[in-house]
Amino acid sequence: MSDFRVGFIGTGRRKERADTTGFFMAYTHADGYRGAGGCELVACCDIVQENAQGFAAYYGIDKVYLDYREMLAKEQLDVVSICTWPHLHEPMVTDCCAAGVRAVHCEKPMADTWGGAQRMARAAVEASTQLTFNHQLRYGWHSDAALQAITDGAIGQVLRFDACRGVLLDVGTHVLDQINMINGDQRAKWVLAQIDYRDENLYFGAHCENQHILFLEYANGAHGLLMTTPDGRNPVGALIRRHDETEWTVPTAPEGGSLAPMDRCLGDVMDCVRTGRKCRVDASNALLATEIIFATFESSRRRGRVDLPLDVTDNALRSMVDSGALTPRRKAS
Ligand SMILES: NC(=O)c1ccc[n+]([C@@H]2O[C@H](COP(=O)([O-])OP(=O)(O)OC[C@H]3O[C@@H](n4cnc5c(N)ncnc54)[C@H](O)[C@@H]3O)[C@@H](O)[C@H]2O)c1
Repeated sequence: MSDFRVGFIGTGRRKERADTTGFFMAYTHADGYRGAGGCELVACCDIVQENAQGFAAYYGIDKVYLDYREMLAKEQLDVVSICTWPHLHEPMVTDCCAAGVRAVHCEKPMADTWGGAQRMARAAVEASTQLTFNHQLRYGWHSDAALQAITDGAIGQVLRFDACRGVLLDVGTHVLDQINMINGDQRAKWVLAQIDYRDENLYFGAHCENQHILFLEYANGAHGLLMTTPDGRNPVGALIRRHDETEWTVPTAPEGGSLAPMDRCLGDVMDCVRTGRKCRVDASNALLATEIIFATFESSRRRGRVDLPLDVTDNALRSMVDSGALTPRRKAS
């Protein structure tokens, strides 16, 4: 007898190589629920019938839907995974909350606007739905190593975080979220930033900058400096130098490997549903990284520092494209 009835919105299509037009993340979520135990995969939904049927056949799921609202109305789901593209996350989360779903695990980034991210988090609080986001790198060995080094006193008090990796609404949300975790999930006080957007760059349907540089201060006085190169190269990589060492070294994965971050993440999410404990990937933590992302776009629009809380609710990058203030060269189709 399973404890939880689990459903999926947006199954994706399993293919040989994942890319920015489809990572079929629902499969990774499903594997995670299986590993967590106590979960019965009962229903799935996709607007593309063959995607939903392929997923159902792969996991032995009986109930297949083309309309997620119908699935929510009929299946009395305890847990729902949302694995669609970012512009759909807010309405889907909000509908799950209204349907009385106990826990929603939604893919990152939270939403494609700051207002949307805030609304979905509020809807979950009001409905007492556990809302988590798939910032699974919080459960990776890099995060463990950084936290351990701080706990052990091996690197002293962290004064500044430097990172150089990925566009903000895609990999960047993971990077910021990891930094936030290592910094004790402190709120940012201000963001001063610039983006460059000259060539159209869509990730899962959302406009993303070609390059960014952003400097921020956290409530505890720590600073963050994030940047990307035009070619997306990371010129530094992850490096560590402890008090008793003279050289910087590249941290290495633990001996014998560790449980994959996704499995640990879903295991923790389900444990939090059982115990009521606040999850590491809780919406309140995801909001901290999301506010910095939209503040970065807003700082670029204002050409100045943005003091938080952020007082605009749109996505300034997208608004600047819509208004013609930014005119990225369209990609040949
Ligand atoms: N956590 C990570 O490391 C990670 C990695 C890759 C992608 N992602 C994120 O996962 C999300 C999903 O990306 P993906 O690559 O898995 O997508 P995908 O394209 O593989 O799958 C999305 C599915 O949603 C379906 N869909 C669209 N509209 C729908 C609707 N109204 N109702 C039901 N289904 C609908 C599509 O038909 C498609 O099958 C994105 O937000 C992306 O940023 C996260």
